[in-house]
Amino acid sequence: VGSGRCVVAVDGPSGSGKSTVSRRLAAALDASYLDTGAMYRAVTWAVLQSGVDPHDADAVIKVAGDIELAVGTDPQAPHIQVNGTPVDRSIRGPEVTGAVSAVAAVPWVRQLLVAEQRKLIAAAPRVVVEGRDIGTVVAPDADLKVYLTASADARARRRSAETLADVAATAADLHRRDKLDSTRAADPLQQADDAVVLDTTELGIDEVVSRLLALLDWRVGRD
Ligand code: DC
Repeated sequence: VGSGRCVVAVDGPSGSGKSTVSRRLAAALDASYLDTGAMYRAVTWAVLQSGVDPHDADAVIKVAGDIELAVGTDPQAPHIQVNGTPVDRSIRGPEVTGAVSAVAAVPWVRQLLVAEQRKLIAAAPRVVVEGRDIGTVVAPDADLKVYLTASADARARRRSAETLADVAATAADLHRRDKLDSTRAADPLQQADDAVVLDTTELGIDEVVSRLLALLDWRVGRD
């Protein structure tokens, strides 16, 4: 792949391998990496921190409008801060994971974060962006759109290996979040018509990354 501008959109449900694949791909392309899920999680962290009910949309909007997010896009060390406080660890905890779908369903929160994401994308010469609505809403002109899937079993196994939580409980939580994220009115998880779909149930990370690099080489070409 040449050295020109390049935007790669990676969407898919939780546990589909999005984060690992996106970071590896960004490193291989010498590109930035933008984790949009971390931004929804950071807003959710702030909501919980301020004692607001994540289902109270008006109160959530007020918190989201009042905070300052700082997002680092180095694929080797992505990080995120809320009002100067690093929240990388706390946003992965069960409290935030349990409440994030409600916060991500508030249309105004999405508008705010999508605007922020577009600025971050515009500022990066090349970038791999992962989320749920990247190919459909955030970056519809991306050079390559990828939609990763995997069986429900494989996704639950991967997530529970990360979080050390019980596989059955993880499967139930993934099912609940997938349902909320795919059925919400505002920008639900959706496969873009022009996305390349890869099922990672049987494919290793290396295989997925090398297929995507080959595809990009073919699409964007060398310059
Ligand atoms: O990818 P993740 O599990 O860190 O994402 C956390 C939540 O944020 C997920 O439940 C759905 C939501 N999300 C979203 O609505 N849109 C995005 N672009 C990214 C994440």
